[in-house]
Amino acid sequence: MKALVWHGKEDIRCDRVSDPEIQDSRDAIIKVTSCAICGSDLHLFHNFIPAMMPGDIMGHEAMGEVVEVGSAAKGKLKKGDRVVVPFTIFCGECDQCRRGNYSVCERSNRNKDLADKAFGHATAGLFGYTHLTGGYPGGQAEYLRVPFADATHIKVPDGIPDEKLLFLSDIFPTGWQAAAQCDIEPTDTVAIWGCGPVGQMAIRSAILLGAKQVVAIDCVPERLGMAEAGGAITINFMDESVIERLNELTGGKGPDKCIDCVGMESHVTMSLPDTIYDRGKQMLMMENDRPHVLREMIYVCRGAGVISIPGVYSGLVDKIPFGMAMNKGITFRTGQTHVKRWTDDLLRRIEEGQIDPSFVITHTVRLEDGPDMYKLFRDKQDDCIKVVLKP
Ligand SMILES: NC(=O)c1ccc[n+]([C@@H]2O[C@H](COP(=O)([O-])OP(=O)(O)OC[C@H]3O[C@@H](n4cnc5c(N)ncnc54)[C@H](O)[C@@H]3O)[C@@H](O)[C@H]2O)c1
Ligand SMILES: [Zn+2]
Ligand SMILES: [Zn+2]
Repeated sequence: MKALVWHGKEDIRCDRVSDPEIQDSRDAIIKVTSCAICGSDLHLFHNFIPAMMPGDIMGHEAMGEVVEVGSAAKGKLKKGDRVVVPFTIFCGECDQCRRGNYSVCERSNRNKDLADKAFGHATAGLFGYTHLTGGYPGGQAEYLRVPFADATHIKVPDGIPDEKLLFLSDIFPTGWQAAAQCDIEPTDTVAIWGCGPVGQMAIRSAILLGAKQVVAIDCVPERLGMAEAGGAITINFMDESVIERLNELTGGKGPDKCIDCVGMESHVTMSLPDTIYDRGKQMLMMENDRPHVLREMIYVCRGAGVISIPGVYSGLVDKIPFGMAMNKGITFRTGQTHVKRWTDDLLRRIEEGQIDPSFVITHTVRLEDGPDMYKLFRDKQDDCIKVVLKP
């Protein structure tokens, strides 16, 4: 089959690889009808997250048709079922799964020993996302093997196009969880850094969850435009001071809730010396992450506020004003998304027309065009916001 394969830094190719096969009785094989490129894939593209190996298949946002089912998954899935595949692989039975904490499933990471060392306690397996999270082949491919498939799937009805459903795999529940973890109240100002696909979903989620005011921050005009169309007030951080503007918009109090939809690759701007410092350290491989947004959030957040962090960080972060956070009584919420915890509710919202997540798609191309699309998405050329691939 064809698949997008990681060969090293900024080197992803569309290769011919062997078709996946059932390896365990709980597996299923999916014929992928649509998949997408995520901002998290860019961290791998840049080789900022360790433990990728040449030959690894990329991708963790996929959906399609079940074409083969292992004997133990047969009660829950059958050939021909239409499913979206959550990017967090989960067993459905361990202590954490029973609590709904699917992204820290205790069984699905097959490289548990390595992950225990890296994280203190292993996290769940993820599709196409390094050997620290199981080294599972990803879904930017014609076929995908889904481990623990009797649990790890979202059944979706016919008659709704892929484009409306695909993002149940990741970015929609990710934006939703980021907002839900803020415990939004009707008086809240929610500030959201990053208007990429995740930021766009977080903006709509914060509004659906009843925020008084949502403020979105980025520097890319078409992304700010899309944020505004979704109901946010926008700040272009290249043109104005984020901190001054957020204080102005909140009568000097600061936002009650802050959401980081940027993560470890915050932009470098000449006017903010800490961003240059981070970039230098990252290039010298002295630091994995550029945590400018975290610093800005801790500074501007209202006392007793919440900082919610869906943005991915990979290792040690430098110069975090933790004393400021402690004295202001800030609550931090973070995590890879517990996708399945949210998707029954979110599928219902799509079916009822409360939201159509396809608004974020700017490019739909063949799988073979994937390698070029990584660059286009990274460089935000051609007004690119979200790429869907059709294997
Ligand atoms: N927690 C999860 O489960 C999960 C799931 C999906 C994605 N993510 C992470 O969410 C983050 C966003 O993903 P995406 O797909 O939207 O990526 P993206 O790269 O398209 O978007 C990031 C946006 O941040 C903007 N940005 C950069 N520096 C900024 C700054 N200083 N202030 C404000 N905005 C800034 C960029 O211009 C860009 O538009 C990534 O870190 C990704 O890894 C996490
Ligand atoms: Zn993702
Ligand atoms: Zn589990």
